[in-house]
Amino acid sequence: MVVGTLQAPVLFFDSNSVGRILNRFSKDIGWLDEQLPRKFQLAIDSTLNVLASLIVPAVMNPWLIFILIPLISVAIYLSTYYLKTSRELKRLASISRSPVFSHISETLDGLETIRTRERQSDFVDQFYRHHDVLNQANILVMAGGKWISVRFEILASLFVGAVAFSAVIMSQDAGYMIERRPLENWPNEGNIIFKEVSLRYYPGGPQVLKNIKLNIKGGTKIGVAGRTGAGKSSFVAALMRMPESCDEIVIDGIPVKEINLQETRRCISVLGQSPVLFNGSLRKNLDLVEQFTDADLWQVLQDVQLKESVKSLHGQLDHELLENGANISVGERQLICLARVLLQRNKIIVLDEPTANVDPETEKTILGVVREKLRDSTVITIAHRLNTIKDCDKILLFKRGTVAEFDKFDTLVNTEESELREMARIASSKTT
Ligand SMILES: Nc1ncnc2c1ncn2[C@@H]1O[C@H](COP(=O)(O)OP(=O)(O)OP(=O)(O)O)[C@@H](O)[C@H]1O
Ligand SMILES: [Mg+2]
Repeated sequence: MVVGTLQAPVLFFDSNSVGRILNRFSKDIGWLDEQLPRKFQLAIDSTLNVLASLIVPAVMNPWLIFILIPLISVAIYLSTYYLKTSRELKRLASISRSPVFSHISETLDGLETIRTRERQSDFVDQFYRHHDVLNQANILVMAGGKWISVRFEILASLFVGAVAFSAVIMSQDAGYMIERRPLENWPNEGNIIFKEVSLRYYPGGPQVLKNIKLNIKGGTKIGVAGRTGAGKSSFVAALMRMPESCDEIVIDGIPVKEINLQETRRCISVLGQSPVLFNGSLRKNLDLVEQFTDADLWQVLQDVQLKESVKSLHGQLDHELLENGANISVGERQLICLARVLLQRNKIIVLDEPTANVDPETEKTILGVVREKLRDSTVITIAHRLNTIKDCDKILLFKRGTVAEFDKFDTLVNTEESELREMARIASSKTT
């Protein structure tokens, strides 16, 4: 441009004012050097942002495409309209800038003449007039920008509204209805009803529980038996909603599906085969959220017959347990877990082979505590050893995912064709 200007014919300088030429060299080149790269980067950023904001919700919910297409069409129409107008407005602003530059240049050139003729105020007024015209054009450019941004904001809000609305509809479709909050003291009896419950661990997987129909009265002690893979743990998994079954499980009159998952799990205590203890004090292991008093803790330790051995420990309740309770015996670990279950005072308790890894003496203690201290709770005990569950009120025998038998232990062992009777026979022949 410099070379072009230097070699330009005189006609060029006659038809273009100094201001316009200065404008090209100052403002326009400045824009090219400073603003254009920045604007270009901004344009790429915004385009990618817009694409991501449109594509991600549309992939999650393809129905949004029906809203996206009209919105994008309106956006394209508006931007085409705006670009035409804004280009003209920018040109107007650029043209209005040239007289300002020209005027300054002329004023500087004719400074002596202006002063000798005392026309300073005329030139100042003229400068303001040029400036007013430039400001008018600049305000129009800014107003154009606001015009398009208001319209784009409206389109974006419409899209966000559509996404939110469709998310609400979709979540209802998926069956995640608004969760009911159970009463403060729910469950207060521990009644459990399985209404033809079937369970699969994953969609399309084998049915591990088939049409389980059960009615367990609150406070009943249920012993669960069955061969390996019969579905005993899956029965507990269905109760704990791991995974969620499609059918109805009702605890004290409330279908558990309608309740917050954490609430359901909190109302059921589980004592598994392997005791779970954390690295930390005995107190913390018994009462994780520190809601019980020392007297409560000592009382449950007495209930599980651990009081004396804890008293002899260094620091007593503050005795530090290693990870997984590595510095105490397996039996003691299981008794601590049982004490934790007692503290929670839940109405439903699941014991999944709690005595599998302990000596007969500890097994006796555990079973005694369950009988004495959990008298009001519904206790579901899974066991391979029939001895562990023979004192239960009722035996639930699983066979290939179905309930094969559900009756008193004595009734079942006295029934000719009972499978439990066969299991008891095999067990007694092994011991003799
Ligand atoms: N997480 C899982 N994913 C898929 N299938 C599973 C899962 N857990 C168990 N199963 C299947 O469900 C069926 C029932 O298993 P479950 O664990 O309920 O048996 P169980 O009666 O508890 O057996 P065990 O006495 O050995 O503990 C089995 O066929 C098993 O393969
Ligand atoms: Mg199991």
